[in-house]
Amino acid sequence: MIVILFGPPCAGKGTQAKLLSSYLASEHISTGDLLRQHVRNGSALGEKAKSYMDKGELVPDELVTDMVSDYIQKLDKRKGFILDGYPRTYVQAEILSEILDGMGRSVDVAVYLKTDKEVIVRRLIGRRMCKKCGRIYHIETMPPKNDMVCDDCNITLDQRHDDAEATVLNRLAVYLKQSTPVLDYYEKKALLKKISANLDAHSVFVSLKNVLFHQRKAKQEER
Ligand code: AP5
Repeated sequence: MIVILFGPPCAGKGTQAKLLSSYLASEHISTGDLLRQHVRNGSALGEKAKSYMDKGELVPDELVTDMVSDYIQKLDKRKGFILDGYPRTYVQAEILSEILDGMGRSVDVAVYLKTDKEVIVRRLIGRRMCKKCGRIYHIETMPPKNDMVCDDCNITLDQRHDDAEATVLNRLAVYLKQSTPVLDYYEKKALLKKISANLDAHSVFVSLKNVLFHQRKAKQEER
């Protein structure tokens, strides 16, 4: 399946995408992670993207789309993948359809992780991540086994640069203005499914698997 996980900052897209990727044995494509990797490596794209990311703005459509397109074209065409953080604008949604069309493929489902603002704020304040492996923790809800050290890499966890309060408020404002039209795009195509992401990660994952099961069944019955 080609699955899109959509939602506001800190809805838990990355957390759910990682669980789903091991459950479905599918590739997890996070545009946020890919961009942060470019910034760390000091690539030309990373240098262009950094100033937008630091302010909580969206990186221009053409830069992100080229990066995603290159990535998708290299994947095994028989396998599904999970998109986390892409598409994030109406234009990106249209371009993604064109890219997939060209490959004889299409999105199976776009899952909207509905999250209340106070939940978002609690999650972002406590988020920590391992800069080596990208594993995400939360100091209260998903703490590491040992104090502030990654369970897998044994290095000290970091707080994301763009989790500073002012930047997050801007990320939320940008999300409401530029990203919510993506919901309309998939709603019109009857591909949008909504689940509550306010619950604990396990409960959200159960809802997510349930949605995918029914969507897959509906698609099989269509054929
Ligand atoms: P990106 O990295 O995609 O940021 P985001 O969309 O703001 O989402 P987050 O990564 O902040 O949150 P998440 O929903 O993945 O939540 P997580 O699982 O970490 O993008 C960063 C920047 O890159 C953008 O601002 C932009 O500049 C640029 N960019 C990226 N994609 C782009 C695009 N397509 N176009 C243009 N620009 C782009 O969880 C959050 C915390 O909550 C964690 O601590 C976690 O442990 C905890 N948690 C998760 N789920 C639960 C739960 N159910 N219960 C309790 N705690 C939970």
